[in-house]
Amino acid sequence: KIQPTANIGVVGLAVMGSNLARNLASREGNTVAVTNRTDAKVDRLVADHPEAGFVASYSIADFAASLTTPRTAIIMVQAGAATDAVIDELCEVFEPGDIIVDGGNALFTDTIRREAKVSALGINFVGCGISGGEEGALHGPSLMPGGTPEAYATLGPILESIAAVAQGEPCVTHVGTDGAGHFVKMVHNGIEYADMQLIGEAYDLLRRVLGHTPAQCADIFAEWNTGDLESYLIEITAEVLRHTDAATGKPLVDVVVDAAGAKGTGSWTVKSGLDLGVPVSGIAEAVFARSLSSQSDVRAACADLPGPAADSEGAAVEDPARLVEDVRLALYASKVIAYAQGFDEITAGAVAHGWDIDRGEVARIWRAGCIIRAQFLDRITEAYRDDPQLVTLLTSPVFLQALTDAQDAWRRVVSVAVAAGVPVPGFSAALAHYDGLRSDRLPAALIQGQRDFFGAHTYRRTDRDGVFHTLWSGDR
Ligand code: NAP
Ligand code: ATR
Repeated sequence: KIQPTANIGVVGLAVMGSNLARNLASREGNTVAVTNRTDAKVDRLVADHPEAGFVASYSIADFAASLTTPRTAIIMVQAGAATDAVIDELCEVFEPGDIIVDGGNALFTDTIRREAKVSALGINFVGCGISGGEEGALHGPSLMPGGTPEAYATLGPILESIAAVAQGEPCVTHVGTDGAGHFVKMVHNGIEYADMQLIGEAYDLLRRVLGHTPAQCADIFAEWNTGDLESYLIEITAEVLRHTDAATGKPLVDVVVDAAGAKGTGSWTVKSGLDLGVPVSGIAEAVFARSLSSQSDVRAACADLPGPAADSEGAAVEDPARLVEDVRLALYASKVIAYAQGFDEITAGAVAHGWDIDRGEVARIWRAGCIIRAQFLDRITEAYRDDPQLVTLLTSPVFLQALTDAQDAWRRVVSVAVAAGVPVPGFSAALAHYDGLRSDRLPAALIQGQRDFFGAHTYRRTDRDGVFHTLWSGDR
């Protein structure tokens, strides 16, 4: 008979699961049970890491028997059908009060569905966003658990012991019930797409308008990394741009095919933004820019479309140093917009799904362990701590000041890019969002007129209450 000795278990021992299991085992007080569909992966992990003291099992039943109650298992298998299969197996052998955690990259609506099904059996189900890739899983990820507060009472201390630490605080919080954790993880990835796109546009401008080499661009990004833009993504951008290809001696970035892939979390964020009626244009442009980059046939067909007069692109820039500083300011302002849009989506998602999400806490747990980690998130954390009801990040004093300082430069950069024929969908969508929000009157009034004209959709008036319809032309 198997003695229950492990307080936590991991199902799925590919890169993420193995590293998470090792991280768990390295913390005082944890005994970690492990299992995997294919036995060889269990054997390899146990053989490679005798120091971890893993309790190995070759069936879900033995795995469950090796766990102390309440049994707590983290699933780290492929998102989708594999996750459903493992949940079903665990539900066969777990008992009411036990806890199943899905640490995969699940779509939050799947998590809501799974939580309803599993909790009907009395078993707790926690969808937990895990960010930071394999390094994060091993040394400290940013963790975004959903599920019930009761489940978090048991799970929380375990997650806190393995999370990344920022300013002495573990990067984990109980985000909200059912799918809240995976929802927030999804928005994190959408913001990541936007951030990467904006950095890409800044690089493109430095290269194509100022004629800088990748190495010169690397120096500029390294310099920017000492200021407001300081972040993991800016840091690795400098390293990527400085890298030389051993085979050709060229900058490696010039040898890499310029077609960006995507696994889908960015488009999930945009689809959810559309469903919620939240303008996440910065994230959408980032997803579309990846799609455009990968449309090799269309790009080849369009290669000879005319651009601005030859002397525009690469024309001598009067004050190159000023343009570099303008691009830095435009990048920062656009980044503020992208993050504000992401937090707008979290706000709307919380309302739509009845989640009590503390947005300051979300920013706090993104300060370390995840791809978008940055000093910048301290400012967002502070903004929501100062005013938990903040309608938009854009009006919090620190970001209002940043946008005020940047806006002239931002406009100059978008103008320069348009004149030179360098695409800046992220910068310009962010600026349009900013101008749209601050406009006293929008052409939406005209659109309401058009809708009422052709479809009798009615409109409201600025000067009285009620709903109105007009017979717009004599013959209608
Ligand atoms: P993965 O390649 O996504 O998944 C492989 C694991 O899934 C293996 O343990 C495999 O078992 C198991 N599996 C597949 N189908 C199964 C089935 N029908 N029944 C039981 N087990 C099955 O591994 P990963 O990259 O470590 O990622 C694990 C999860 O973490 C995924 O949901 C992923 O999206 C998420 N995640 C990944 C990252 C990252 O940076 N890679 C970051 C955050 C989250 P076998 O060994 O038997 O094939
Ligand atoms: P994390 O939250 O740690 O960042 P993730 O969400 O699994 O982990 O992935 C981080 C980023 O790495 C994602 O933006 C993902 O990009 P896409 O969604 O555009 O693909 C990328 N990524 C993760 N695993 C990948 C893989 N196996 N192949 C390609 N890109 C991957």
